[in-house]
Amino acid sequence: MTYLITGGAGYIGAHVTRAMTRAGQRAVVLDDLSTGDANRVPEGVPLVIGSTLDRDLLNRTIAEHGVSGVVHLAAKKQVGESVELPLHYYRENVIGLTVLLEAVAAAGVRSFLFSSSAAVYGMPDVDMVREDTPCLPLSPYGETKLAGEWLVRATGAAHGIATANLRYFNVAGAATPELADVGIFNLVPMVFEKLENGRSPLVFGDDYPTADGTCVRDYIHVEDLAEAHVAAALRLTEWAAAGAPRDLTVNIGRGQGVSVREMVDLISEITGIERSPEIAPRRAGDPARVVAAADRIHDELGWKAQHDARAMISSAWAGWRHLRDA
Ligand code: WQD
Repeated sequence: MTYLITGGAGYIGAHVTRAMTRAGQRAVVLDDLSTGDANRVPEGVPLVIGSTLDRDLLNRTIAEHGVSGVVHLAAKKQVGESVELPLHYYRENVIGLTVLLEAVAAAGVRSFLFSSSAAVYGMPDVDMVREDTPCLPLSPYGETKLAGEWLVRATGAAHGIATANLRYFNVAGAATPELADVGIFNLVPMVFEKLENGRSPLVFGDDYPTADGTCVRDYIHVEDLAEAHVAAALRLTEWAAAGAPRDLTVNIGRGQGVSVREMVDLISEITGIERSPEIAPRRAGDPARVVAAADRIHDELGWKAQHDARAMISSAWAGWRHLRDA
């Protein structure tokens, strides 16, 4: 089995590639390095530099490496940017996926795992988000992920490909300092940056209908997320080999909500940098609570998150310091 891992030089992609190879699977990475880093690709794993929009490159890569499964992570993923650049997001995330699926179907690849997101739910007004919670995305980014799921499911059904749509909740942490997230687009690194520069962390609104008034999210350690990909990829391969391809759409979360204030307090404790947060206006489009019901992935794959918020923040902080001392 050789898996093509698109986006395998990115923050999440590098963790997935690391986990797949540690599980004894062969991998080849395709990444355009627009945000990825070649140094994150493990020793011995071939890196093909390019885009999933390049059909000829996809055909050559699938043939030369004997690809029999795909883990598709390459995508643009900034919600705010997607509002400013919808055409760029639809081209990269939807047309790029379409070209990849055409190459996969034509080559007879039998398993396909798609990186989806909790953003497909939009602003779910439920205590626990289940996979059958209505998907009403609020951003072009979320729309491209929902459209991607439709494409993957329909292509799998039409061509006998085993498929999985993995809906990530809020990812944080790092397996090693070198693999930490270098982007400053999510809560944990945004707070690190404020604290490191002697400024107060910003809390976007404290008047939400939650226990402490701040937004509640389901944070998942990137190592747990990567292990979920290994479990899903191997299960798809089993289904394909048994000639019983089907789709599996699952949330990847811990099933536990943590508020922004709780995260900020934990970050201060772990970093040792005490600064009272500043309450800023609400951020448009922020739901009060987005917490995964995580029983389906456990029932289907036996997977359950192992790391808590403290482990996520500690490992992220070690990575933050490593990348700044490097
Ligand atoms: C988390 C909470 C902010 C920074 C997004 C995407 C989702 C997924 C994860 C890709 C929110 C609050 C943040 C700060 C704050 N990405 N916050 N002060 O918006 O839950 O999810 O990223 O798949 O699809 O929608 O993540 O980390 O941006 O924010 O108060 O300095 O922290 O308002 O409530 P979000 P986030």
